[in-house]
Amino acid sequence: MYNCFVTYAKINMQRASTGAPEPVSHMKVFIVYCHPSEDSFTSNMRDAFIRGITDSGNDYIISDLYKMGFNSDISEEEYLRDAYYREDPEVAPDVLAEQEKINSSDAIAFIYPVFWTEAPAKLVGWFDRVWSYGFAYGDKKMKMMDKAMILCSAGNPLSRLEEFGLLDSMKKVMFGDRLFGRAKEMEFVVFDGTSREKEERKKNWDANLKKAYEKGRGFFAGSGS
Ligand SMILES: Cc1cc2nc3c(=O)[nH]c(=O)nc-3n(C[C@H](O)[C@H](O)[C@H](O)COP(=O)(O)O)c2cc1C
Repeated sequence: MYNCFVTYAKINMQRASTGAPEPVSHMKVFIVYCHPSEDSFTSNMRDAFIRGITDSGNDYIISDLYKMGFNSDISEEEYLRDAYYREDPEVAPDVLAEQEKINSSDAIAFIYPVFWTEAPAKLVGWFDRVWSYGFAYGDKKMKMMDKAMILCSAGNPLSRLEEFGLLDSMKKVMFGDRLFGRAKEMEFVVFDGTSREKEERKKNWDANLKKAYEKGRGFFAGSGS
C-alpha cells in the first residue's frame, strides 16, 4: 500500500528481492490518482502500477485527490486570471504545490475510473486549476514531461467504447488538449469491462493487475532504467 500525498518510494529493498536490474539513474513519476473509494479495482490497479515503478528502480510521488480533499472548483479570481491571460494574481498554495510536484518529476501518470466518458469531476477540476495561465499555457513554466501515461478503468467493454467513438473522444481530450505539447510520449491504457456486474471483472482481475504492474515496470524503459 502506498503512502498518501507526496511519497518517495523506498525502492532499493524491493529491487533486491525481485532481482530487477540496477537502474542507470532514478527517474520520478508524479501519479495523479483520483477515485473516491479504496474498495475498487482502480485502487488495486494503482498499487500494482506503483509496485512496477519501484521494482524498476525508479521513484514516484502521488497526489490522491480525494484523500487530499483537493478543491476542484475554479474560483472567480482564478477564472479571471486564466481567461484574461493575466499572470499577476498569486497562484493558490494548493495549486502551486501540484505544479511543483510536476516540475520536480520526469513524467506524469493519471489513474482514474471513467465517469460518463471522462475523468471524475475532481480530476477535471484539477486540470481547470493546475493547468493555469503562465504554467501550462502562455509563457509556460511547466516542464516538458518525458512521458505521460493514462491508466483508467472503464465499466464498459472495449467493443462498446469503440463502437460509439467514446474511447477516441477520451483520448482526444487528454492527448489533443490537456497533454498536447506537454509530454514527449503519451500512452492511454484502458482496463475495460471492470463493472461489478460483469463477469470479466473477476475473470480478468489478476491479468489486469499484472498488466498494470508491467506498465509501471516498463514505464521508464529507454529513459534510464
Ligand atoms: C458515476 C459513474 C459513471 C460512470 N461512467 C462510466 C462510463 O461513462 N463509461 C464506462 O465505461 N464506465 C463508467 N462507469 C463505470 C466505472 O468506470 C467503473 O465503476 C469502474 O471502472 C470500475 O472500477 P472500480 O472498481 O475501480 O470503480 C461509471 C461509474 C460511475 C460510478
